[in-house]
Amino acid sequence: MNIQQKQVQRRRTFAIISHPDAGKTTLTEKLLLFGGAIHLAGAVKAKKASRGATSDWMAVERERGISVTSSVMKFDYQDYEINLLDTPGHQDFSEDTYRVLTAVDSVLMVIDSAKGVETQTKKLMEVCRMRRTPIMTFINKLDRDGLEPIELLDDIETNLGIECAPLTWPVGTGRGFKGVFDLRRDELRFFVPDGQKSTRPLDVRHVKGLDDPALDDLLGADAQQLRQDAELLSGAGHPFDVQRYLAARQSPVFFGSAINNFGVRELLDTFVELAPPPQPRQAETRMVSPLDPEFSGVVFKIQANMDPAHRDRIAFLRIVSGQFQKGMRVRHHRIGKDMQIAKATIFMAHDRTGVDQAWPGDIIGIHNHGTIKIGDTFSSKEPLKFTGIPSFAPEHFRRVRLKDPLRSKQLEKGLLQLCEEGAVQVFRPLRSNDYLLGAVGPLQFEITMARLKDEYNVEAGYESVDITGARWIAGGSGARQFVNDNGREIAKDIDGDLVYLVSNPWRLERLMETYDDVVLQTIKEHR
Ligand code: G4P
Repeated sequence: MNIQQKQVQRRRTFAIISHPDAGKTTLTEKLLLFGGAIHLAGAVKAKKASRGATSDWMAVERERGISVTSSVMKFDYQDYEINLLDTPGHQDFSEDTYRVLTAVDSVLMVIDSAKGVETQTKKLMEVCRMRRTPIMTFINKLDRDGLEPIELLDDIETNLGIECAPLTWPVGTGRGFKGVFDLRRDELRFFVPDGQKSTRPLDVRHVKGLDDPALDDLLGADAQQLRQDAELLSGAGHPFDVQRYLAARQSPVFFGSAINNFGVRELLDTFVELAPPPQPRQAETRMVSPLDPEFSGVVFKIQANMDPAHRDRIAFLRIVSGQFQKGMRVRHHRIGKDMQIAKATIFMAHDRTGVDQAWPGDIIGIHNHGTIKIGDTFSSKEPLKFTGIPSFAPEHFRRVRLKDPLRSKQLEKGLLQLCEEGAVQVFRPLRSNDYLLGAVGPLQFEITMARLKDEYNVEAGYESVDITGARWIAGGSGARQFVNDNGREIAKDIDGDLVYLVSNPWRLERLMETYDDVVLQTIKEHR
């Protein structure tokens, strides 16, 4: 194995997907604790708590400031280098949350055992499905009363359309939660409610399979229940198959309690063992392997620092192949220029440091002076254009109202740039001169307005509009007719592509029946 193969093999780049409050932050913290990246439980939560409300501008600033450093958390575990990418999920849920999923090789899904599959998880799962991203599942909060484990698996299978293969199984739940049985290793792990702040080993007992009478001594009546569950599983469940996991058809499932640090180590151990290392990526001309010697990378996120004292913008670049070296010259293909990356940042858990060297799977931050766009490709030699960083249909819309009509040029410039950075999407209706903004999460409107004021000196306000969705008109023999007939509801996006703006889902359904030869899409590939 050469050094590049070694470096690729030891990397795991992933994100955690969940609905708010399922336990993503808590689990992240425990992972960082095991990785030695933080030494005290509570550090991540403290950051989160300091975010505060989003209504005043300072709070937004603070929030964005924090999310720059927590966007990527790099840490070591055993011989692995792990890049954990944040998927903003509360008020800051945005298109970035989706786009982050285009930069990872696998995901970890957290489900609250009392709630089962929730909406945000469902939405994020659609992106994973589209990209065939392998998923590992952690069912959290077993220390609380929740749904029956079998019910939870059924819920995931039905609502997310993926097979579940439990690798551990809970013994009791809520107040009666005793621990989990590791079905692969025939081990019983006892739950220790105060395991919160430490990474000390759990109380683990090996048994000789489920029929071992030692299990009855250890668990009493729960042993019988465990056997019954296991029998049910062997009949109705799916045996674990690593190939099916890697093909994103099956999700291995773990049960635990993040806050009690229970079940996290097994999850992490299995994750590093099974999760895929950096994967090849499709460019327009060919598939690019992480083992290709030439450097290449793709920008999946641009983050503006809202602090006026450091008004920089950072482009997050995922390295796809080769090796990054500080000071190297790369080609920025979209604009056809060479540039030297004199300074790049790597994001260690809660810290940024300059980086001298990085490998496929790593995320580096490069300074952007307004020339970098989401989806841009950089490479050392060959002209490449990576595909697969799409735009996602917004669900929130506003009409922009300019306070000073003489500033319309600046407004246009500002909106265009913010749109290229992926902060917000801009639409121009065919039948009016309005600017419509679309976003996946409403916080983006607040950020856009503040940035227009700060960076472009444009004072703008918003008017609400009666639009709840968008569909790109992606072709089909009836597309022209569709546009002619429904022009009042159609707009152009920043690239001039036509979009149907949904104000009534029933009407959309009817239209789709009437114009069944028109292709309408919720996702659009960047050009
Ligand atoms: P999120 O990032 O997915 O939004 O979730 P987060 O980790 O913030 O967890 C949401 C709430 O669930 C927190 O409670 C957290 O303490 C709790 N939680 C996380 N894991 C477990 C678990 O295994 N068992 C139980 N019982 N609770 C868990 P909170 O009251 O909102 O915050 P805090 O006051 O505890 O910080």
